[in-house]
Amino acid sequence: MSVLFINGCVREKSRTKALADYLISKLDGEVIRVDLQNENIAPLDAQRLSERDSALLNKDTKHKILKYAVQFSNADIIVVASPFWDLSFSSLIKVYFENVTAVGVTFDYDKNGIPFGMCKAKKLYYVTTAGGQIFNKDFGYGYIRELCRSFYGIPQVEFISAQGLDIIGADVESIMDEAKKNIDKLFD
Ligand SMILES: Cc1cc2nc3c(=O)[nH]c(=O)nc-3n(C[C@H](O)[C@H](O)[C@H](O)COP(=O)(O)O)c2cc1C
Repeated sequence: MSVLFINGCVREKSRTKALADYLISKLDGEVIRVDLQNENIAPLDAQRLSERDSALLNKDTKHKILKYAVQFSNADIIVVASPFWDLSFSSLIKVYFENVTAVGVTFDYDKNGIPFGMCKAKKLYYVTTAGGQIFNKDFGYGYIRELCRSFYGIPQVEFISAQGLDIIGADVESIMDEAKKNIDKLFD
């Protein structure tokens, strides 16, 4: 089993990373870490897009531009650690998923133009923490869940969060403990 850990956290004392580490301690398998801030994953500009198009056309899955898509497609379990930023997630996360969403690697289209998934994973955990309450103002998890369902073919997407951490007077420790208890319940 392989657990692909996509770490979009950037702060040294990231609460999202702490929660994701707790979740990962419960999972079996070899953990493959992708620390996005150290990876230098670039957006698809004209040059990279054309490089990727030729790699896809030639089915050159060893090409470096398809590295993240191939890795994502082959993972058994995926954990995404993604702090809640500006009602969604950071551009690091967006650029990563832009690179991963590659026709012929993580998904493809049938003859009627309907996308179908090509990813091995049956489950993706989306771990986030927020300064306030997310309520229904979520443009982050919902988007990744839709990518999983509509494109990647990953049927189970689990949302794990700790919210209200930056509210004045918040008891950060107990909010985090509660979030960890919710993780425990997933493995009872
Ligand atoms: C750039 C930036 C944008 C943020 N945007 C929001 C937001 O829209 N809503 C919110 O509730 N908190 C927001 N926050 C607060 C973070 O969600 C909160 O501090 C979170 O716990 C940070 O995760 P971390 O400890 O893993 O870095 C933002 C923080 C930063 C740095």
